Amino acid sequence: MFALCVIVLFCWASVSHSAPTPCENLIRPVESLSFHDVKGSWALVSVSAADPNHLEKQKRSDSGRAFFANYTDRPEISFTRISNVGDSCQYMRTNITLEGSGFVDPQLNITMTLLRRSCPDCIVVRLDKIPGQPSRLYLFSRRRAVEAKEMEEFKAQAECLSLSEHHVMDPTKELCPEQISRHAAAPTEATTEAQKV
Ligand SMILES: *[C@@H]1O[C@H](CO)[C@@H](O)[C@H](O)[C@H]1NC(C)=O
Ligand SMILES: *[C@@H]1O[C@H](CO)[C@@H](O)[C@H](O)[C@H]1NC(C)=O
Ligand SMILES: *[C@@H]1O[C@H](CO)[C@@H](O)[C@H](O)[C@H]1NC(C)=O
Repeated sequence: MFALCVIVLFCWASVSHSAPTPCENLIRPVESLSFHDVKGSWALVSVSAADPNHLEKQKRSDSGRAFFANYTDRPEISFTRISNVGDSCQYMRTNITLEGSGFVDPQLNITMTLLRRSCPDCIVVRLDKIPGQPSRLYLFSRRRAVEAKEMEEFKAQAECLSLSEHHVMDPTKELCPEQISRHAAAPTEATTEAQKV
């Protein structure tokens, strides 16, 4: 009996010290994050969500964009989500603060964590409405589309987080301008409603 206990303990100890699983590696957050890592504009390339209804909603938008800008006199960062839905551009801007490997958005009460990725000009953003329960995963890039192996990595990351099948945005659809333009040809809509996130 004692021998068995020793063996069990030994095995348990060796398991707990073994190499990280592929999923642990895939969903590891970035080590340090600064405004410079995210500043400017990103095109939404792919989305994965825990709620299938959200994915359906995402499929109705032609393109998505994220825009990060700083303030000269404040530590907050301005984060604008821009989507092109049925020929109109929708803008939602909130102020976020850098925290560890990501951002917190006190207005929408969400946290965003940036995950490590091999794609050099991409960010992979995990969104949690309830801490520890990923509700969405976004792949943004400076490009409109990514390489097949970069998309495979994103798919694997979503699977590790038990998120749904991913939706890939159509890279040929036009992006909305970064800023709401007074002279925009298309009607624009600014919103800060939480349900539009
Ligand atoms: C804001 O961003 C600009 C351009 O990246 C940078 O030069 C400036 O130092 C930043 N300001 C603050 C307050 O972080
Ligand atoms: C974000 O901060 C700026 C600068 O303080 C402020 O003018 C703006 O109203 C804030 N926006 C939101 C959505 O809170
Ligand atoms: C923010 O979300 C957490 C986790 O879901 C919740 O417990 C908390 O009450 C929320 N706070 C606000 C201000 O909505």
